[in-house]
Amino acid sequence: MKTAIVYYSKHHGNTKKLMDAISEGHDVTAIDASQVSKADLSGYDLVGFASGIYYSKFHKSVLQFAEQNLPENKDVFFLYTYGAEKKGYTKSIAEAVNKHHANILGEYGCLGYDTFGPFKLIGGIAKGHPDEGEIQQAVTFFNGLMQHKRK
Ligand SMILES: Cc1cc2nc3c(=O)[nH]c(=O)nc-3n(C[C@H](O)[C@H](O)[C@H](O)COP(=O)(O)O)c2cc1C
Repeated sequence: MKTAIVYYSKHHGNTKKLMDAISEGHDVTAIDASQVSKADLSGYDLVGFASGIYYSKFHKSVLQFAEQNLPENKDVFFLYTYGAEKKGYTKSIAEAVNKHHANILGEYGCLGYDTFGPFKLIGGIAKGHPDEGEIQQAVTFFNGLMQHKRK
């Protein structure tokens, strides 16, 4: 089972912590959307999009990458971290993959340490996140996807 994860995790590497944990023991290729703008994803069974939330969306490099590189009808999933819980953070990435008729298998999102703007003055919010429990939940989520794909 070959998986590619296209990611952007620059603020504190929060999302990358989830990614690294789920990748262990699996055949996962990580593609940093801030470094790479083009890749052939046709040989992957599953494509993940992972990002910190920036202005209520996945980072624009990940959105652009999805629009430009995702082959038609792929199985995809989303992984993300945010400073404050709110609904709708995956709307933008869902719209991008839907342009390619992707099959969205699921998503996992959790808190991530955030020192953006004024939050820096108060030492940041969501300190200590993602924590061990959240990282483990991401692993459980991904293992579930793997099982679903093997059926
Ligand atoms: C420029 C910027 C904009 C952000 N916008 C939001 C936002 O709209 N909503 C939110 O909950 N968190 C927001 N955050 C916090 C990040 O989503 C959070 O810290 C995330 O865990 C960062 O992930 P990363 O370390 O993987 O890049 C923002 C952070 C930055 C730096």
